[in-house]
Amino acid sequence: MEGTISNSTNTRIAVVTGGNKGIGLEVCRQLGASGVTVVLTARDETRGAAAVEKLREQGISDVIFHQLEVTDASSIARLAEFLKTRFGRLDILVNNAAIGGVELVDDPSLGPKPVGEQFSGMGWQQRIEWMYRNSRETYSTAEEGLRTNYYGTKHVTEALLPLLQSSSEGRIVNVSSGFGLLKYFRGEELKQELNDIDNLTEERLDELLDTFLKDFEARSLEVRGWPGEFASYKVAKAALNAYSRIMARKHPALRVNCAHPGYVKTDMTRNSGLLTPEEGASNVVKVALLPAGGPTGAFFAMGKEASFL
Ligand SMILES: NC(=O)c1ccc[n+]([C@@H]2O[C@H](COP(=O)([O-])OP(=O)(O)OC[C@H]3O[C@@H](n4cnc5c(N)ncnc54)[C@H](OP(=O)(O)O)[C@@H]3O)[C@@H](O)[C@H]2O)c1
Repeated sequence: MEGTISNSTNTRIAVVTGGNKGIGLEVCRQLGASGVTVVLTARDETRGAAAVEKLREQGISDVIFHQLEVTDASSIARLAEFLKTRFGRLDILVNNAAIGGVELVDDPSLGPKPVGEQFSGMGWQQRIEWMYRNSRETYSTAEEGLRTNYYGTKHVTEALLPLLQSSSEGRIVNVSSGFGLLKYFRGEELKQELNDIDNLTEERLDELLDTFLKDFEARSLEVRGWPGEFASYKVAKAALNAYSRIMARKHPALRVNCAHPGYVKTDMTRNSGLLTPEEGASNVVKVALLPAGGPTGAFFAMGKEASFL
């Protein structure tokens, strides 16, 4: 479904991936409320159309839906073609779509699921421990996590790059995570290599991710010192951070940054987070709307520039 909005040359145009719910939907609402024309994308047409309808009911009219499954090359190509024909450029790309890279477990022996207010007595570490106890990582979920969270984001970025380069101030915000910080890597060599941005290449990142999957399959993550719990999610977000820095170096005319939204109550966290989706999204939108000529290749945690380590 495509809407009927004006093709203004003055209005900035943004694409948000995974815009049908959670942080992505709120990013669309806040960008729309700031006067940006928003292309809300979702893998499911019905969920995406319903999200656009919801925003329109809230008075956000300059929003349009386009289908996007980030792991599907033909879906990515259709979006790129649509943007090219309709706008001829793209000003802001918010790579938000992601999955947890785990299977959810509901094991009664783990105690009752804390819902809603029942989380309120728990600190963030206890909440994350609860989430981990109620998750299972398999080779297939780990592989799917990398395919969606790293390769999906990278392939969308590559396809939309020429359109971003046609903008006078093209910018990419990769929605990352505190879990992508290098402190979660126990192996010093891995940590150093992922932080050595002057020498790191996309090809080397692919090799490292292949090695991670092999080590995962061999149940030997600790040998090289990969992260532990939520391993695939952490590795994919760390790779996304490194890729963002490589892209920032290669394309100095663009602004390419990473944004950690905070620990947010969404489906991904089974609503265990501390922030509302509005608060989490505002930490992403802040980076998307930084004044022209701002930082590039940087990591922002809850709206403030921070270390990748
Ligand atoms: N929530 C947190 O505490 C937290 C913390 C740090 C970082 N983040 C990051 O914030 C971003 C948004 O997360 P969230 O908490 O809002 O999660 P969420 O509520 O689970 O939303 C994830 C979104 O991504 C979409 N998606 C997943 N796989 C996709 C695919 N293959 N193609 C296209 N869309 C896909 C989902 O679509 P469906 O509805 O079709 O599944 C959904 O729209 C993610 O990048 C996440 O890693 C979240």
